[in-house]
Amino acid sequence: MKKINAVITAVGGFVPEYILNNEELSQMVDTSDEWIMTRVGIKERHILKGEGLGTSDMGAEAVKEVLKKTGTKPEEIDLVICATVTPDHPFPATANIIADKCDIRNAHGFDLNGACSGFLYALDTATRFIESGNKKKVIVVGADKMSSIVDYTDRTTCVLFGDAGAAVLLEPSEEDYGIKDSILHSDGFGRKYLNMKAGGSVNPASHETIDNKMHYIFQDGRHVFKHAVSNMADVSVEIMKRNNMTADDLAWLVPHQANLRIIDATAQRMELDPKKVMINIERYGNTTAATIPLCLWEWEKQLKKGDNIILAAFGAGFTWGSIYLKWAYDGQ
Ligand code: ACO
Repeated sequence: MKKINAVITAVGGFVPEYILNNEELSQMVDTSDEWIMTRVGIKERHILKGEGLGTSDMGAEAVKEVLKKTGTKPEEIDLVICATVTPDHPFPATANIIADKCDIRNAHGFDLNGACSGFLYALDTATRFIESGNKKKVIVVGADKMSSIVDYTDRTTCVLFGDAGAAVLLEPSEEDYGIKDSILHSDGFGRKYLNMKAGGSVNPASHETIDNKMHYIFQDGRHVFKHAVSNMADVSVEIMKRNNMTADDLAWLVPHQANLRIIDATAQRMELDPKKVMINIERYGNTTAATIPLCLWEWEKQLKKGDNIILAAFGAGFTWGSIYLKWAYDGQ
């Protein structure tokens, strides 16, 4: 029997309309376009405004695009996995809400929290369902409304994040394309450097947690930066070598978009031509679980059947990893 491969057959994406640029941020906190551009590489980020709107609304738009592009009926979808750190609610899962908003009624769904590596974790999980023959059509969403957990009086974090959602459809194929390899890691020691202190079972919401601003992102940027640079580069080089590839064999690196300096360091360690690196951090900032599928969405038209692509991420947990895939269709 031939091996069943899991291939991405379409990408959808959604970015909210409102743009928060460095100029506006400079009026909110003591920062400047010059600092943000040199230290991080972000010019603007999109923010989801509007009462009652959450992560699922962005995820659902992305999923609807995927269904439309592929002519897939909602009832054909078997599974929806949503990677997010900003679910609409602690429960039910945002994946269930997305499914409902897209009229997907024959699937099960769950959320997955791998922070900035969430899309890679979710894509790897979805791959197992397809390869085993258990599922035929799996939607993987990466979506985050980071503006809902950002403290817009803290200049060390508020300049970094934006809101977006993106999704892929994963299907089986006997052809030699699709997800080929993955290396995923986590190490909980890193939790003290990047976390949200309250709102979970350890520190449920109270007046005190609100007064102490414990429902916002806390990050010790320098420590996270150090680990991000070495781990994202190491794991990207490792997956390249493990699959007997050199930089010449690669068509694209799709890195998580947290800091342009981290992306550049990774590409340099891989000895990769900068033209082969997908970078859109300047326009969107760090949209956490959405960054990687959002890149695939923006570059989809340029992708060619057979392109060797490495996805790489690092985030809270710490979590990090890389996935190697062979693209399965020509962009048009
Ligand atoms: N504007 C102006 N000055 C600032 C700003 C700002 N927005 N933010 C910080 N500074 C100041 C600091 O106060 C500090 O001043 P000091 O020297 O007087 O104390 C100075 O700039 C340098 O601060 P650092 O924190 O050392 O700056 P750094 O160069 O490390 O950049 C950054 C900070 C961008 C956060 C960087 O450390 C980084 O990218 N870290 C990794 C982020 C990441 O990868 N996160 C993982 C994914 S996120 C997730 O999983 C949810």
